[in-house]
Amino acid sequence: MAECRDSGSTYAMSPPPNPMIDASPQVRELLGRLHALSLEQEVAISAQAAALRHLPEEERKEPLAALMRDKFIALDQDKCEFIYTLLRATNARHVVEAGTSFGVSTIYLALAVSQNHGNDGRVIATEHEPEKARRAREHWAEAGSVIEDAIDLREGDLRQTLKVNMPQVDFLLLDIWTPMALPTLEIVLPHLRPGAIVVADNTISFSAAYADLLAVLRSPSGPFRSVVLPYSNGLEFSVYVP
Ligand SMILES: C[S@@+](CC[C@H](N)C(=O)[O-])C[C@H]1O[C@@H](n2cnc3c(N)ncnc32)[C@H](O)[C@@H]1O
Repeated sequence: MAECRDSGSTYAMSPPPNPMIDASPQVRELLGRLHALSLEQEVAISAQAAALRHLPEEERKEPLAALMRDKFIALDQDKCEFIYTLLRATNARHVVEAGTSFGVSTIYLALAVSQNHGNDGRVIATEHEPEKARRAREHWAEAGSVIEDAIDLREGDLRQTLKVNMPQVDFLLLDIWTPMALPTLEIVLPHLRPGAIVVADNTISFSAAYADLLAVLRSPSGPFRSVVLPYSNGLEFSVYVP
């Protein structure tokens, strides 16, 4: 617990209340449960990935991809809570999420846009694994109709599914395999409103794999202004200022 000094007196400071305080207890319980399951899987994935380390990089790719195919790999809870708060602060209406997996981060996005704009808030979610899309829909149904109704899940490769019916976009979350990040940004870019925010996960730990994306987001002559937030493994925060 942090301590504050004020006019010579020292007092204990409580941590801030959960920013998801406006979500129903049912949604908060669901999110806690899904994050816990995701973390459990990540521990197992790390152990299994370590066992593949002896293989040459090319031979490692397919078993690693197979390992991830049916796993959550959800965005960390503190990052999700930050993004939820950010969407509330910026009154975001239309959000694109690349990718969605079992739909954990999507619940935060959907909650924020529906609290901002009621039925007019929309999250365009993207997932190309049919089983993951099915599980995501189950989780959203459990979260309730406010969440479910705010999500437009585009099943299939987002390089195709994001080509049509795109609104003006206030926020883009890049939580996807690194080679897909720049192609996604390029598809969504014509739809970003000036001042739109792009957030990309793990840009410190995967800076080499993200080199092409970061060259665009961090270029002094480009249309973005970017900082890395000190969340675990880095969270790139970029504003579109064309
Ligand atoms: C890190 S996970 C997303 C986690 C999710 N945001 C969450 O917090 O629960 C990345 C997802 O992107 C999906 N994906 C990867 N390439 C894709 C593509 N080309 N089109 C659609 N989805 C893709 C993967 O199947 C995977 O489920």
